[in-house]
Amino acid sequence: MSKAPKLTIKNLHASVDGKEILKGVNLEVKGGEVHAIMGPNGTGKSTLASALMGHPRYEVTQGEVTLDGENLLEMEVDERARAGLFLAMQYPAEVSGVTNSDFLRSSINAKRGEGNEISLMKFIRELDKKMELLEMDEKFATRYLNEGFSGGEKKRNEILQMMMLQPRIAIMDEIDSGLDIDALKVVAKGVNSMLSDELGVLMITHYQRLLNYIKPDYVHVFMQGRIVKSGGPELAERLEAEGYDWVKEELGIEDETVGQKA
Ligand SMILES: Nc1ncnc2c1ncn2[C@@H]1O[C@H](COP(=O)(O)OP(=O)(O)OP(=O)(O)O)[C@@H](O)[C@H]1O
Ligand SMILES: [Mg+2]
Repeated sequence: MSKAPKLTIKNLHASVDGKEILKGVNLEVKGGEVHAIMGPNGTGKSTLASALMGHPRYEVTQGEVTLDGENLLEMEVDERARAGLFLAMQYPAEVSGVTNSDFLRSSINAKRGEGNEISLMKFIRELDKKMELLEMDEKFATRYLNEGFSGGEKKRNEILQMMMLQPRIAIMDEIDSGLDIDALKVVAKGVNSMLSDELGVLMITHYQRLLNYIKPDYVHVFMQGRIVKSGGPELAERLEAEGYDWVKEELGIEDETVGQKA
């Protein structure tokens, strides 16, 4: 039995091309918890996701991030994945020449390590089961990774990856964008099927709608490169109804974005 994961982010600052985007993010995500992050465009939500995964463009300039007490910032991207971190991307990349199924099997094996590879039979069984749950046509297994996939198909495929890789901390960046109403329910079913004390979830979303299907324990408002306010599900409902102006007023924030003004 692996123990419940704990991701701790303390005063995280990160820059891209010398410009500071993340300005002191504090957050703790534990196994069994679902956290939602909402916030205006361009405030740094995807940057947070990328910085956590170790994307080389984002330079961490201050702060610390630990997973189960281990320093995440010292790990390479593949080590972070092996430690159980997963990111469902806002804009999944298309990779030509690599089939979805080969990609998944090598990702799983990279995570499991040499000598502990998943058997082909077991892999196929798992893949079939998960694709069925996500109501994906089996042809998606043999198509090249995301190539020519529609926006919604890419999102569904990100969740398939997540379900196959069984992360301990899953970051999902706008998995609901571009999904039709039925697809949203299917994707939510996939995510909900994974929830347990051994998984902590961080969902970035613009819409309360997703949170009707995947219930968050905590909702955070992201502005100016950090979390400026936290609450429960009722916070998402208020944001949906009233937008962000009241948060800005309450906190005395004039410009909600870090990106639009230099
Ligand atoms: N690689 C990059 N090069 C240049 N600027 C970047 C890069 N990545 C992020 N930025 C800038 O950092 C700011 C934050 O971007 P980010 O993608 O994190 O916003 P976001 O909160 O995810 O927005 P959205 O809700 O629109 O997805 C933006 O102004 C963006 O232009
Ligand atoms: Mg984003």
